[in-house]
Amino acid sequence: MIDDFKKHCKLSQLSPICTQLIDLSNQAYGVNNGNIPRWQKAIEEIQQQNTGYINFNSPYLTIDAHDINEDLLTKSLKQIMPWRKGPYQIGGLQLDSEWRGDMKWNRVLPHIQSLKGKTVLDVGSGNGYFTYLMSLAGAEMALGIEPFLLFNYQFKSIRTLIDNPPNAFVLPLRLEEMPGADIFDTVFSMGVLYHQKDHMEHLQQLKNMMLKGGELVLETLVIDKQHGDQIIPKDRYAKMRNVWCLPSIDTLYTWLKQSGFNQIKLVDVTKTTPEEQRATHWIGDNTQSINDFLDPNDDNFTIEGLPAPKRAILIARK
Ligand SMILES: C[S@@+](CC[C@H](N)C(=O)[O-])C[C@H]1O[C@@H](n2cnc3c(N)ncnc32)[C@H](O)[C@@H]1O
Repeated sequence: MIDDFKKHCKLSQLSPICTQLIDLSNQAYGVNNGNIPRWQKAIEEIQQQNTGYINFNSPYLTIDAHDINEDLLTKSLKQIMPWRKGPYQIGGLQLDSEWRGDMKWNRVLPHIQSLKGKTVLDVGSGNGYFTYLMSLAGAEMALGIEPFLLFNYQFKSIRTLIDNPPNAFVLPLRLEEMPGADIFDTVFSMGVLYHQKDHMEHLQQLKNMMLKGGELVLETLVIDKQHGDQIIPKDRYAKMRNVWCLPSIDTLYTWLKQSGFNQIKLVDVTKTTPEEQRATHWIGDNTQSINDFLDPNDDNFTIEGLPAPKRAILIARK
């Protein structure tokens, strides 16, 4: 996959930073992680399956591979669980991930500039479900960055099944490791800001990657004004350990303005529902999902007594 990335990277707007991206990715893949042999073996098994073309047939990213051995493929894909992002369909096999990513994409796509011919960055891309959608929407180069190695292996496993894959890649990098280069037309940060200890630093780093006039697509958890300007969870939020900030929409505007963005627009606010986040057999033994994270007596609150998850999408320009 890295070789393929190298080839396409050199021909793209990313060419000045290709070598650094590849070196950093190789370092990240070189870490001592006891799961890698199992993930690698799963990929080798998946390579024995037939391949097909990728398309978006909502809700699934579909790969029209014929004569898939579904039992074997299921077994291999389950070696690289949990499948949080998706859903995917390979031949007749429906990989129903925890999240219905199509629902988020349908809220985002109508509001953003066309991605045709663009160079886009998908920060915190998970297994690349949205990165593929960006390339299918016409991006010339869609680069996902995702530090969690498991999700990189998931990306590889899906890519292995695609005939003539589009220019969508996921590399095992954090935003803060990206070589400084203002080269992206559109930068997506979806579901990432609230995981950052320093939200202003994250916004600044996103801006640093963008061309002047480029578009930022920011999707993050927010709270209603009645709960104040922001909540900093003392402990867990909806059972998640690493949630650092839950701003109101006004606060988010202020943060974007202070970071130097302009033309800031709120385009969507949606409460997370059990239709969008659900427990499926593709997330492994820990089959908890949204219903287990909310107060059983009042689904307006999390189990910790904080406002239930609600997500806003804001668009802004550099
Ligand atoms: C909640 S998931 C969101 C995935 C996807 N973007 C979506 O909207 O569904 C957040 C992802 O961001 C990644 N992440 C967290 N901090 C990051 C950082 N500083 N740079 C890049 N990715 C990061 C996490 O590993 C995780 O996979």
